Formats: sequence, structure tokens, C-alpha cells
Amino acid sequence: MKMVSVVTVTIIQLLTISSAIFGTRGTTISEIDRLITNLTTGYNKNIRPPDNNTETLTVNCTFFLMSIIDYNDISGVLSITGGVMMTWIDPRLTWNPSDFSNIDHVVLKRSLIWTPDLYIINPANDLESIADDTYLARFFHNGLVTLGMGDNIKILCPSDMAYFPFDLQSCPIRTSAWGYFGHEVTLNPHVRTMDLTYFIKNNIWDVDSTSAEEFSLGTEYTGMISFTVNLRRKPLYFTISMMAPIFLLAMLNPFIFLLPVESGERISFGVTIFLSFAVFMTLLSDSLPKSSTPMPTICFFLFAAVTYSGMIVIVMMLILRLYQQDPEEKSPEMAEQTSLHPQLQLFKMP
Ligand SMILES: *[C@@H]1O[C@H](CO)[C@@H](O)[C@H](O)[C@H]1NC(C)=O
Ligand SMILES: *[C@@H]1O[C@H](CO)[C@@H](O)[C@H](O)[C@H]1NC(C)=O
Ligand SMILES: *[C@@H]1O[C@H](CO)[C@@H](O)[C@H](O)[C@H]1NC(C)=O
Repeated sequence: MKMVSVVTVTIIQLLTISSAIFGTRGTTISEIDRLITNLTTGYNKNIRPPDNNTETLTVNCTFFLMSIIDYNDISGVLSITGGVMMTWIDPRLTWNPSDFSNIDHVVLKRSLIWTPDLYIINPANDLESIADDTYLARFFHNGLVTLGMGDNIKILCPSDMAYFPFDLQSCPIRTSAWGYFGHEVTLNPHVRTMDLTYFIKNNIWDVDSTSAEEFSLGTEYTGMISFTVNLRRKPLYFTISMMAPIFLLAMLNPFIFLLPVESGERISFGVTIFLSFAVFMTLLSDSLPKSSTPMPTICFFLFAAVTYSGMIVIVMMLILRLYQQDPEEKSPEMAEQTSLHPQLQLFKMP
């Protein structure tokens, strides 16, 4: 919320500068007051524009993404800060600037006029309007209204961990002018991407790409927008702390056969590697959703590695058993011979 207000302040500052250029300077408060009174007298804010109410009102929307606060890939909840900049035409709010000391735009609380309420329809918390009534809207003399409002938005976005940690998560933010059918108020994604001007980088996720397209829920509930943000995980941490050790252990495992049988270390080496895999399995299951659709590929790999490691331990036990059986039954010559070539022991029948 704090970030939203910081950016709102920035936007307001920018707009104040532009208003200085565009001519509100020099106009008196009473002139602006006269204009606002003129505009709001007889204005019913419950009725949507345009004048002919059978026509569709098109509201142009751009999503501005400010930050990714958190993406919990286990519960599938994406929490972002951002908002929507909307523009539309309200023919009731037009005036001739020359009648009002050349004032060509005014700023008003959005609660004073008709504004569309945007709802996120795939929320992770309550279904409520994207922002409260305190945001300011800007009116131009030709009827153009611009309104930017934002909030902390939490949406449901089940994760796809098949390629963890090289995964790409695609999270749609579905917005609707709740209460209006598509033929009454239509949201128009006139820019096909999100606005990343105010975006602050995240440590875990990179924004790979963004998009905005029309979206509908059926025959009448059309004219919605789905803003999609594609997040790519920064894989370095998991590569170093998880993938690299697992691959190293898997490579280390066959070297068990290089150890001399007499040293008695083969079993402890095999079991240690087996247990290390088990430890990594526990670690990994903490950072992955308990989902089977789809299973992360790394889980299959780890399962294969554990099976393989377990089989090596079993083979090793059999080999040691066969090796230990011999000495009493062996003839002195045989013992002498085989002690020169200990590896032959492996292939000798009991
Ligand atoms: C608003 O201003 C216009 C033009 O000056 C004028 O014709 C109209 O009567 C005014 N309306 C009200 C409600 O004051
Ligand atoms: C309002 O718009 C509809 C559809 O565009 C049109 O058929 C109708 O004649 C219009 N009514 C008026 C009063 O302009
Ligand atoms: C909305 O966007 C369209 C382009 O998609 C543009 O032609 C139109 O003028 C815009 N309307 C407003 C009110 O900004």
C-alpha cells in the first residue's frame, strides 16, 4: 500500500507539472469551483456513459506492474503491487474551455462521478474492488476521463514445476467491470503488454514477458481483460545448492567399485551416498508443491538416483558376502594367487 502511495504521489507530481504547462496556472480557485459545480450539477453518478445508454462504453485499460511481493509456488498464490490505468469518454463532462478561463482539465475524487469498478476474478483473498474510492480522476474538457488506481493484488496461480528450477510461471490477472455485461461496459486492452515503468526488480523472479488480452466467461460476461505476467525463476541458487550436489553424488556413486574390498569401506560409502540422496529428497520436498500434475522432473531423477544407489548397496553386500565366505575353504595356493589379484574375487563362485 505504501508503494502504491509513493507512485501515486509521483504520478500526481507529474500531472501537476503537466497542468502547469497546460494552463491551469493563473486560473483562480473560484473559476475551478464554478466549473466543477457546473459539471456536477445534475450529474447522476449511478448512470454510466455514454448518453445513448444502449451503446457500449469502452474503457481502455493498461496494467502497471510495480513489484512482485511474493510468489508462493507451493500454495500457488501470487502477490503483486500494481494497478490499472483506465481511460474512457464521459460526454456529460465536457465544457468549452473559453467559458472557464481556459481551464482544460480538472482533478476530482473518483467517488464524485461515475467510474467503473474493477474486480479481480481469480483472487486469492476476498472478491472485492481493486481499489477504494479515494483515488483521483482527471477530466479533460473533451470528456476524456483518466483514472489510475492500484492496490496489493493477490491472485491464484497454480504453479507448474515440471522444469524446476528452470520453470516459467504464467499468471493471468483477470479483471472485470463487475456488475456490467460485456455489451454495457467493455474493457479494452489497448496496449497489449503491461506497463513496467514503475517496476522494481524481484530477487527470485524475473519478469519474462507480459501480455493483455480480451477474456470472457460465457455469453454475457464478455469484455473482460486477462493481464498475464510470465515469471521466470532465477535458477542459480537452486542449481548451486541442490542440482550440483545431487549430480555430483550420482557421479560419485559408481566409484564405490574402485574401493578395495579389504578396506571394508564399501558399505559405509554406499550407505552414506544413499542417505545423502534421502536428505536431498527431504530438502527438495520442502521447496516443491506436493503436486502430481505435473511431477517435477527433478523428483523423478532423484527417485532414480535413490533406487540406483540402493541397488548398488545391495550388490555391494552380496559381493562382500561372497568374498568373506572363502578364506577357510581356500587352498593356500589359491589364497596366494587371489591376494595378488583381489578383483578376481568378485567373479569367483563360492
Ligand atoms: C454550465 O456552463 C454552461 C456554459 O457556460 C452553461 O450553458 C450551463 O447553463 C451551465 N450549467 C449549469 C448547471 O450551471
Ligand atoms: C442508441 O443506439 C442504438 C444502437 O447503436 C440505436 O439503434 C438507437 O437508435 C440509438 N438511440 C438514440 C436515441 O440515438
Ligand atoms: C482506446 O483505445 C483505442 C485503440 O485501441 C483508441 O482508438 C481510442 O481512442 C482509445 N480511447 C480512449 C478513450 O482512450
